Amino acid sequence: MADLSLRDISKSFGRVKAVAPLNLEIHSGEFFSLLGPSGCGKTTLLRMVAGLEQPTTGNFFLNQKDITALPPQKRNIGLVFQNYALFPHMTVFQNIAYGLEVLNCAKREIYTKVESVLEKVRLSGKRDVAIPNLSGGEQQRVALARALVVEPQVLLFDEPLSNLDHALRLETRGVIKQLQKETGITSIYVTHDQGEALALSDRIAVMSNGVIQQVDTPQELYFSPKNSFVASFIGRANFFSAELCSSCFGINSIDENEMLAVLPEEILIGKWMGSVSKVDPISKLSNDGKAKGKIMDVQFSGAVVEYVIDLLQQRVRATRSSTAHEAALSAGAEVMISIPQNIHRKVLREQ
Ligand SMILES: Nc1ncnc2c1ncn2[C@@H]1O[C@H](COP(=O)(O)OP(=O)(O)OP(=O)(O)O)[C@@H](O)[C@H]1O
Ligand SMILES: [Mg+2]
Repeated sequence: MADLSLRDISKSFGRVKAVAPLNLEIHSGEFFSLLGPSGCGKTTLLRMVAGLEQPTTGNFFLNQKDITALPPQKRNIGLVFQNYALFPHMTVFQNIAYGLEVLNCAKREIYTKVESVLEKVRLSGKRDVAIPNLSGGEQQRVALARALVVEPQVLLFDEPLSNLDHALRLETRGVIKQLQKETGITSIYVTHDQGEALALSDRIAVMSNGVIQQVDTPQELYFSPKNSFVASFIGRANFFSAELCSSCFGINSIDENEMLAVLPEEILIGKWMGSVSKVDPISKLSNDGKAKGKIMDVQFSGAVVEYVIDLLQQRVRATRSSTAHEAALSAGAEVMISIPQNIHRKVLREQ
């Protein structure tokens, strides 16, 4: 078990500030993700933890010991990359055994450890297969086994699933989560996919432009974002100004310098009933004539249907379960929009 402290860590490449000075405490046994859009500094931060890049400022502590000056091979940290980085001319067994051979382990010990880890990643049947004859998902599981076999104190993942198709991504992320829980190895997982981070992590650091915006549990980030970037990136929230809240929704608790952040699944919509004060029998929304919008687009994506609605020239995104989708709510339809009274998620208005 190992905990990792990042103290005052930053990285500049010439004039490019890839990572602004930051502090992070990653707890022993934790599955911790770095989440953010392309170019926000995730890989740079991960490479510094691995020792592949030196920080411009700051220090790393593994179990209170300063490892900043240690080369990668002395840190006892395992790495799993997007592109697998396996030896193509070797078999599955030879790829996994390589790290133990470098450590001069005895043949019998190597055999036992490789067989055990092959079982864990469900590849026992493929031990003598050559790498090019494996599927992408299997290759990524070999990469995972190779990182695990040397029993690292910390495991680092850099977008390990991005080369896999959707079904394999879901399956492989299940394998990663289960193995991490079984082994209890402190893990840092880099991704730009918020669904992946929410599903896998104990805690997530959301990054933008080299700066950590918020560190929290998936639920806290989703339901209580600290700023508009997090609300937008994690929950794809809609933002309503104080003026619009008051004039359209009768909500007067928002200050001029704030926005109300409303998740797409929280927006209520009903068919516009023609004249004011009629109630839509399906949504039960009553028509007070204040928030009338027009559906611009309807996107069916399986479990949910997303409506893009024009409300006083602001785009509003509303989702509902596809089993609740009404044929009457199609592109061009006029709708009433409402916000439940218990939504109080406020974020600062961007200047
Ligand atoms: N070796 C380098 N030399 C110069 N600039 C670099 C170098 N490595 C990264 N950068 C810059 O630092 C910033 C952060 O890059 P980084 O690769 O860490 O982003 P990322 O969050 O991993 O992005 P992605 O999701 O696309 O992988 C970018 O502006 C990038 O161009
Ligand atoms: Mg990257």
